[in-house]
Amino acid sequence: MNDKTVLILGASSDVGRALANEYNTHDYNLILAARNSVDVESYVSKWPDRKNTFIVPFEARDFENHKSWFEKLPSIPTITICVFGYLGKQEVAETNWNECETIIDSNYTGAVSVLNVIANVYRNNKGGVIAGISSVGGERGRQSNYIYGSAKAGFTTYLSGLRNRLFSSGVHVLTVKPGFIDTKMTAELNLPKPITAKPEQVAKRIRTAIERKQNVIYVLSIWFWIMLVIKLIPEFIFKRLKL
Ligand SMILES: NC(=O)c1ccc[n+]([C@@H]2O[C@H](COP(=O)([O-])OP(=O)(O)OC[C@H]3O[C@@H](n4cnc5c(N)ncnc54)[C@H](OP(=O)(O)O)[C@@H]3O)[C@@H](O)[C@H]2O)c1
Repeated sequence: MNDKTVLILGASSDVGRALANEYNTHDYNLILAARNSVDVESYVSKWPDRKNTFIVPFEARDFENHKSWFEKLPSIPTITICVFGYLGKQEVAETNWNECETIIDSNYTGAVSVLNVIANVYRNNKGGVIAGISSVGGERGRQSNYIYGSAKAGFTTYLSGLRNRLFSSGVHVLTVKPGFIDTKMTAELNLPKPITAKPEQVAKRIRTAIERKQNVIYVLSIWFWIMLVIKLIPEFIFKRLKL
């Protein structure tokens, strides 16, 4: 086994699958963590060569066990990519705490819980990379998805703080703000094609951003400008918009 190992948290996602393919073709060892290992097994089984690929069960909401879970991995990954997330239903979450809590835990609390453990190991080892997939939805609260958006906002701030804390220990932290991605998460939405990325594009962009030690990226650069405009709208106008 070489010393390049990527841990993908949420490997059954469309972006997780694309990342696994991307890193597999670049000769990395893989630890693919997912609560649904059958989905992971089905794409890995199509690879001609799957040596040094481990599939492990992972539940983001199993907070108490994240430390022991990480200690049982086959090796300490050099790169950890936190991909899991849950869009949920905003309207349901407004009245149903269970849905609301699931959105918060799947996008924020679960990520903080597992990355706290990994961050401490990387800090002690004086090296490692943590990448987290957040969202442009976290840049300004909108009525159509502010529960998800606020959880992602928390995650973006968490990653920013982690980057600041771990820089002096030689640990790099990347924040990814993808904009729209064509995945099962957004299958019910009618997304505008020119500003929607494919999972493979996201995966390639993440790999190159990690290699270049970038800090915060938008997958399609147009999203930087879209969000700039959205953030510049004065609040007294913004609160009247149906967004
Ligand atoms: N699609 C977009 O437009 C878009 C835009 C911005 C950001 N993102 C973010 O990109 C990331 C990847 O999403 P995607 O679009 O690839 O969506 P996806 O295919 O629906 O993947 C979501 C993944 O999260 C996993 N997951 C959810 N809750 C979990 C939990 N409690 N424990 C373990 N795994 C859990 C799901 O596992 P199961 O397979 O078991 O359900 C699934 O693998 C997410 O963080 C998402 O918020 C997506």
